[in-house]
Amino acid sequence: MAAGQDDNGGRPAGDLAAGEVEFAGTCQGCHDVPDGLAALAAGDTIAEREDWLWGFLADHFAPEPAARADIIAYLVTFLDDEAIPEGDAEAGEMAYARTCVECHVSGVRVMQGVPGEDADGRAAWLWSFLAGHHAPDETRRSDIISYLLGL
Ligand code: HEC
Ligand code: HEC
Repeated sequence: MAAGQDDNGGRPAGDLAAGEVEFAGTCQGCHDVPDGLAALAAGDTIAEREDWLWGFLADHFAPEPAARADIIAYLVTFLDDEAIPEGDAEAGEMAYARTCVECHVSGVRVMQGVPGEDADGRAAWLWSFLAGHHAPDETRRSDIISYLLGL
């Protein structure tokens, strides 16, 4: 889906599942686990960390843009939600009704398919997934996440 393209200064939206495979093949030899790598990236927000990783990984084993975007999408799912901008659940409910309901009637149902051990983990997964899935705008995305986590 092209909805998330070019939202991040030209960075393509990454594919989480592909990133997991890429990580195992390219990075795991030196970095045993993906946990915590994104937290090393400079920045206060997930978007800033993504930007930093985009630059860093270009010269650090991920020169190819599509693979790099996939790996970044995967790595940020290990961040906790302190870096996700505070969303407005009410605005998120309206955005969900406008953007998501046509395909996902029930938000509760959608949340059953979202991995993560706790709310922080699910928020981080959604942040990354929705960037390439109908919610490229960061404000709207954080609103929708706030709505979904409150269900
Ligand atoms: C050949 C070994 C090796 C491979 C392969 C490798 N790294 Fe690294 N990485 C390192 C080392 C060593 C460091 C410590 C910082 C440095 O000296 O560059 C590091 C640092 C990092 C950092 C932190 C940078 C910082 O300043 O703290 C991140 C993030 C990272 N690697 C991600 C990745 C990712 C993602 C991949 C796969 C695309 C990868 N690395 C592949 C060896 C590797
Ligand atoms: C055009 C239809 C369509 C729209 C619009 C849409 N989705 Fe999806 N969504 C899908 C399909 C189909 C899947 C199954 C996985 C896939 O193929 O990407 C999916 C998967 C998901 C998943 C993964 C969990 C699961 O159940 O597989 C989440 C979370 C999700 N969508 C949330 C949203 C949110 C939030 C919005 C609005 C911002 C949205 N979707 C808009 C069609 C849509």
